[in-house]
Amino acid sequence: MTTAVVPGTFDPITSGHLDIIERAAHLFDEVIVGVAASEHKNGTGPLFTADQRVGLIQEATAHLNNIRVAPFETLLIDFVRAQGGDVIVKGLRAMTDFEHEFQMAALNGRMNSEVETLFIMSAPEFMYLSSSAVKEIAALGGPVNGLVPNCVEKALRNGF
Ligand code: PNS
Repeated sequence: MTTAVVPGTFDPITSGHLDIIERAAHLFDEVIVGVAASEHKNGTGPLFTADQRVGLIQEATAHLNNIRVAPFETLLIDFVRAQGGDVIVKGLRAMTDFEHEFQMAALNGRMNSEVETLFIMSAPEFMYLSSSAVKEIAALGGPVNGLVPNCVEKALRNGF
């Protein structure tokens, strides 16, 4: 039995994240979506609380039966070990992701060489999609349908 951990900030989960999670769910026996609870991006805190992000991912992945969603505040590699994970799975979009992902994979591998990091190439239609872009579009009243799961679109439009 192989357990994959798909980690991220997921503030909020996008259609690109969901595509990676679905593809990982087909490849591995069990997938744990790890939500980095207190991750700060661009000097600001997350828009959605960790609980809200976990809830939105649970709702968006309800059609998959080998998924678990859990928040974490530790090093990713410690979370993977605590959850009994074998593999870290990350989505790779444009080349701009590569440098940072390569660094994290190398450092995580150095801390625990038994946990492999694998990359799934983003689908072309999600190549330039990011949570930050979605938040900016939503904040300025633009359309985010198709960019995020329906539950996220609703949360961005109406709040919780
Ligand atoms: O989707 P993101 O925001 O790019 O995900 C980044 C994340 C959460 C996977 C990364 O920041 C992470 O692993 N954070 C946990 C702390 C940690 O382990 N840092 C050292 C990485 S080498």
